[in-house]
Amino acid sequence: MENHRRRFLKTGALVSGAILSSPTSIGAQMDAKKKNKTDMKYRTLGSGDHALKVSSVGLGCMGMSYHRSFVPEKKAMISVIQKAYDLGLNFFDTAEAYGPLVNEILVGEAISPFRKDIVLATKFGFKNGKPSEGLDSRPERIRSVVEHSLRSLKTDYIDLLYQHRVDPNIPIEEVAGTVQILIKEGKVKYFGLSEAGVTNIRKAHAVQPVTALQSEYSLMTREPEMEVIKICEELGIGFVPYSPLSRGMLSGYLNERSVYNPNNDNRATLPRYQPQNVIANWPVINILKTFGDQRGLTVAQVALAWLLAQKPFIVPIPGTTKLAHLQENMWATDFSFTKEELTNLTADLNKIKIVGDRYTGISAQQTQK
Ligand SMILES: NC(=O)c1ccc[n+]([C@@H]2O[C@H](COP(=O)([O-])OP(=O)(O)OC[C@H]3O[C@@H](n4cnc5c(N)ncnc54)[C@H](OP(=O)(O)O)[C@@H]3O)[C@@H](O)[C@H]2O)c1
Repeated sequence: MENHRRRFLKTGALVSGAILSSPTSIGAQMDAKKKNKTDMKYRTLGSGDHALKVSSVGLGCMGMSYHRSFVPEKKAMISVIQKAYDLGLNFFDTAEAYGPLVNEILVGEAISPFRKDIVLATKFGFKNGKPSEGLDSRPERIRSVVEHSLRSLKTDYIDLLYQHRVDPNIPIEEVAGTVQILIKEGKVKYFGLSEAGVTNIRKAHAVQPVTALQSEYSLMTREPEMEVIKICEELGIGFVPYSPLSRGMLSGYLNERSVYNPNNDNRATLPRYQPQNVIANWPVINILKTFGDQRGLTVAQVALAWLLAQKPFIVPIPGTTKLAHLQENMWATDFSFTKEELTNLTADLNKIKIVGDRYTGISAQQTQK
């Protein structure tokens, strides 16, 4: 009898579990999903006819194949990209140069089920798609990169096409004019620049309005505050900070003992990631940690929230290969500083002099003309 009763209770529990997990709980899960999506905040890059609405943070996909030491399994990265979409993120960043030539293929496969619902950004600008071979923004090259990107991304249009670096051999007006033709042909929707300086931004914008400028900006790279963000505000151009966590440094997870794969990680040689500079810059991490500890935020979340608080047209694109980091970074959009908090935190951070250049070779000063 007792055995019967136990079996009955067990079956009852299973049945009620099944009832709970079928329509009702699936409905609840879908509601939760919908809620997540509607909870996502959005921002506008660019203005007028050239405005583009995107989630307040995007996903940088470069590190899934390039420059971040390891190359994770493709299936896992497809899952990260698709989960980002499920959580309401709709802005995905790639480039011909990432891999090189393979990151777009990964992104194209991952986004194919929801391609029409997202904003897909990619870039042209290097010889044969390889940064190591130098710059190439000749009109014929731009057109052939776009054809290649469309195939790799399995799509018939690119939402946002950036010039990856200004090419001193090709007038920026010619680049803007070429992208304008691609826009007229329907192959591209919006035009962007990366690491361009004030003169080139103005010249390009006069030919084809620029929707977004993507440049390195983080609490370790504040140069865009001097001129570039101001010109974006003046001209109604969105600003997309790349490496917003300073390639992982502004999370507290990297330190002077971190080891990078020299065959697939630029941090192995970039001055800022060398041990003595990491130690010298560590007070920034301590300040962010102290601020975050009091408010239930991680170091990375404070770093991203600080960027978001600078201007309403700023949309950072942190890169990650981890679902946990993706969610953490997206949650940074939920935090709003009081005026006093932002002033005090910024004043504390301004006291730290960041050491170690962000790049070797072509420096920011050379590219930002
Ligand atoms: N226009 C350009 O010239 C240019 C140049 C560089 C990058 N980009 C774009 O910007 C995107 C982001 O830049 P990035 O990858 O150089 O730098 P980033 O976003 O500042 O940092 C990425 C690194 O931080 C780690 N990370 C991310 N979130 C974290 C968290 N919450 N906690 C701990 N670690 C975290 C990632 O490791 P895990 O994978 O372990 O999370 C990864 O190694 C790229 O994917 C690319 O799309 C553009």
